[in-house]
Amino acid sequence: MTRGLRRRLTSYGDQEFSLFLRKAFIKAMGFSDDALDRPIVGIADTYSDYNPCHGNVPQLVEAAKRGVMLAGGLPMAFPTISIHESFAAPTSMYLRNLMAMETEEMIRGQPMDAVILIGGCDKTLPAQIMAAASSEVPAIVLPTGPMATGSHRGERLGACTDCRRLWGRFRAGEIDAAELAEINDRLVSSVGTCTVMGTASTMACLAEAMGLTLPMAASAPATSAERVRLAELTGRRAVALAEAGEPTVAELLTPGAMRNGLAVLQALGGSTNGVVHLAAIAGRLGRRLDLSELDELGRLLPVLVDLKPSGVGYMAEFHDAGGVPRLLAEIADALDASAVTVGGVTVGEIVAGVPARYEERIIRRRDDPVVPVGAIAVLGGNLAPRGAVIKHSAATPELQRHEGRAVVFDSVEDMALRLDDAATGIAADDVLVLRNAGPRGAPGMPEAGYIPIPLSLARSGVKDMVRISDARMSGTAFGTVVLHVTPESADGGPLAIVRTGDRIRLDVPARRLELLVGEAEIAARLRDLAPRPDSPRRGYARLFDRHVLQADEGLDFDFLTGSGGD
Ligand code: FES
Repeated sequence: MTRGLRRRLTSYGDQEFSLFLRKAFIKAMGFSDDALDRPIVGIADTYSDYNPCHGNVPQLVEAAKRGVMLAGGLPMAFPTISIHESFAAPTSMYLRNLMAMETEEMIRGQPMDAVILIGGCDKTLPAQIMAAASSEVPAIVLPTGPMATGSHRGERLGACTDCRRLWGRFRAGEIDAAELAEINDRLVSSVGTCTVMGTASTMACLAEAMGLTLPMAASAPATSAERVRLAELTGRRAVALAEAGEPTVAELLTPGAMRNGLAVLQALGGSTNGVVHLAAIAGRLGRRLDLSELDELGRLLPVLVDLKPSGVGYMAEFHDAGGVPRLLAEIADALDASAVTVGGVTVGEIVAGVPARYEERIIRRRDDPVVPVGAIAVLGGNLAPRGAVIKHSAATPELQRHEGRAVVFDSVEDMALRLDDAATGIAADDVLVLRNAGPRGAPGMPEAGYIPIPLSLARSGVKDMVRISDARMSGTAFGTVVLHVTPESADGGPLAIVRTGDRIRLDVPARRLELLVGEAEIAARLRDLAPRPDSPRRGYARLFDRHVLQADEGLDFDFLTGSGGD
């Protein structure tokens, strides 16, 4: 295979001239012929002033470059899109596919023999893994790592479970505006990703569990020397990949490796967003994510990691407790030990090398779990024909079997207008329904599924209610929240026909979500649904509306699925 600068020559109709020109231009950066003859390792640089979760990327790029050069390669960093959760409108998920497309084409369009993907904030690692899964270039993932925790009046704080919890206390009148401002200064106390088991931590742990990173790369703190050393090691390893021309992400992500990811998702108490991203990654490999396998693993494996939002700890403690390798050792019976990792060893070999257990508070024993079942249950029923999910490890046990009156909001805007209005007349045992918040409806399936408790109920002490939507929820949130109802209401799913006053039954142990309305009435209401409005007239919004897939297929674009390569 063509290597180094000869890869991917610009087309002028004369290959030798293309190489001559390429060399002439790159020498303007001061490179010698010796440097330009080395294996080339691309480094996807996602630093952005808009992305504090990637604030340490310049240092990681520098260390990765050092590792590449120590191993005899030529590092070439290149910028890509960077997405931060709070700086992406209408929602970061809307932009994930754009980042995945851009990253894939930059890997494919520029000469590199291997690539290091540096990402961290929720959508960035999924976008990069999707991109690499569709590319023939061997890749290694380097997460940016979790941020440090802060403290407020003696209480430890970490983004962003505590952001939501304390905002809830402010809404309930338990905290005043002055104290809220004080908290705002302390919630995010360093660069790096959210330090609870939110989506960023989940995706970093899944990347490690599926063999796409070096061991411990998911959890080493963003600001630690260990993180920088991992970057250097990642650079070294990338040269070996560049020289061997393998493995690619598609080669690493066997069905067994994906199963390892699903098992870790359940035992971590991981984010429901992980299900969407794994579905998208599977789609890139021409496969469908097996939601029944996810549910079965959730019945087999309890939540063992005691981190917020399901538990109490933070990512630095997970790292100190042994991180992903320690967790893999605890659930080894459910794993494919033969899955090969990017470091060149199998999952079984990593497990065999895990030191003897030295703590049992953060990574629990199987016989002493945080929650006796896995993090996520997959629901079916007439309200979710293609499925829905609930993070039942972070839900109120008494609400997991519940029947109540539906109170329906037609959109995120409608919810914002009417939720706190006394005239809406919401009672604590009602079921809040939000629709038109799915992949096409919102668009981008915003994290609006965590419908706030109406103000008057919050002030009277109500902490949780059953909430149902076709939206997503932040991995840092908690509550009895049914998400990803598929098909979405904007695509004619049954959520579109629910009326305020209908009865809804949620039965998590039986994995059912039912609208208690007769079949003939459901069919009549579905027949009467208004047609979908036209797609936006131009640009990415039009592309998104016309091509985005549903949640069970990962919200990827229909033209990006299938086996990879050129
Ligand atoms: Fe970036 Fe939480 S906002 S990881």
